[in-house]
Amino acid sequence: MKKLIIINGPNLNILGTREPEIYGNLSFTEFLEELKNKYKNVSIDYFQSNIEGELINKLQDVGFSYDGIILNAAAYTHTSIGIGDTVKAIETPVIEVHISNTFSREDFRHQSFISPNAKGVIIGFGLQSYELAIQSFL
Ligand code: DQA
Repeated sequence: MKKLIIINGPNLNILGTREPEIYGNLSFTEFLEELKNKYKNVSIDYFQSNIEGELINKLQDVGFSYDGIILNAAAYTHTSIGIGDTVKAIETPVIEVHISNTFSREDFRHQSFISPNAKGVIIGFGLQSYELAIQSFL
């Protein structure tokens, strides 16, 4: 069985209530339940943190043993050289995902420190971005 993990960065723990016009009404817990039911032949772990160093620690923990990492580093995407370096350092392929189309938003969201070292990038399909990333590993 393939071993995948979804890693979510800051403010993604309040999906459902956070700016629903951008991010939708569904909480990530509800969505994850649906995803796990739909993809029973894959192991999907989940980790969320609002703290940059915790995201780096988790990437290092899983980055040499898992088959794939689906990473939405949220705002840290645009600021964190540290997370970018970790994505480069680990062996497990990382798919960068974003719920919203970051290129249709503010200029500061057009920069990503993750993309150069990601296996691929999926942007702007709502929560379906995560599902597309899972499919890419199957
Ligand atoms: C986001 C886009 C980021 O710019 C933003 O800071 C987020 C969420 C997305 O999934 O659309 O927190 O990563």
